[in-house]
Amino acid sequence: MEDHYGHRISYLRVSVTDRCNERCQYCMPQEEQEWLARDDVLSYEEMLRVIRVGARMGISKLRVTGGEPLTRRNILWFFEELQKVEGITDIGISTNGTLLDRVTEDGRTTAQALKDAGVRTVNVSLDTLNPEAYAQTTGRDYLDRAIAGIDAARDAGFERIKINTVLMRHKNEHELWDIVDFARERDLLLRFIELMPVSTTQVLTEENFLASGEAKKILEYRLGDFIPRPEIRTNGPASYYEVPETGQILGFIGAMTNFHFCETCNKLRLTCEGKLRPCLGSHLEFDMREILRNPDMTDEDVAKFFLEVVDRKPEQHEFRENYQPGRKMIAIGG
Ligand code: 5AD
Ligand code: SF4
Repeated sequence: MEDHYGHRISYLRVSVTDRCNERCQYCMPQEEQEWLARDDVLSYEEMLRVIRVGARMGISKLRVTGGEPLTRRNILWFFEELQKVEGITDIGISTNGTLLDRVTEDGRTTAQALKDAGVRTVNVSLDTLNPEAYAQTTGRDYLDRAIAGIDAARDAGFERIKINTVLMRHKNEHELWDIVDFARERDLLLRFIELMPVSTTQVLTEENFLASGEAKKILEYRLGDFIPRPEIRTNGPASYYEVPETGQILGFIGAMTNFHFCETCNKLRLTCEGKLRPCLGSHLEFDMREILRNPDMTDEDVAKFFLEVVDRKPEQHEFRENYQPGRKMIAIGG
């Protein structure tokens, strides 16, 4: 699958739930919102059908997101099924980490069970190491659980554990070094992400925004000038650098300030209620659920739908053009 701008689509992010055990300010709308009704959310079987068809069309990488994916029942079963889909070679999960050390029925940690089910990479959101700031940003006093979850993932021996830190002036600008140290000591790949207007514009103010270039300067002030490492590519749009003395690699995701951000985009997103979205920063979304639940529609129709959505993939996101989010991040999955 290739779009009009030469983006080859090989990566699907699948949001399995809009529910979460945390309440991050930048992800959730300020007002209390109702969760989606169970019937509105795709069943695992429906998701697997989309993924099987997608895999036939060139999807090889999957990332399971939420909300918090580990809050959905039987999620480990879903991962075991994903591993069996032909053509899928790389499975990852994005999580807030707080449930990774939960012990499963057979005595393994959830992290270990994920590893055993073929998950290669775990991305954990961690914006601060200060318990009060953590509670304030996420709405929950779970910093210890998140760290215990990260340790459980380390014990499970994943190929790579990434930490995603959303940059927020006043919130974490003064502890960026500590987060860098935390990641280095634990051998975690740390990426700093610019705040995006994905769910709510209330949090994204001039006041709260911290550009990735500025964060880099703050860090370089103490750590020395970073060495660009453009050859390092994960699946996303991060730019990587090496810290001179330690050799630690740091990523910067400058969705708002990097004008080349979208050039290497290879992604589609499936929301938990079955909307296929060609771009996180565009209102475009196309309802797949209707097709999936129509007994007259075949896998061929699902395949055609994929092509139509890819055909409408925009050249770049609209975050800079006064984008007004129409939908909660928590229902899209990052
Ligand atoms: N801006 C930037 N990153 C965000 N995330 C969630 N909402 C936003 C936002 N408004 C991040 C989370 C997580 C990833 C899935 O997306 O911190 O790391
Ligand atoms: Fe939950 Fe992640 Fe959204 Fe925070 S950013 S509320 S942890 S889904």
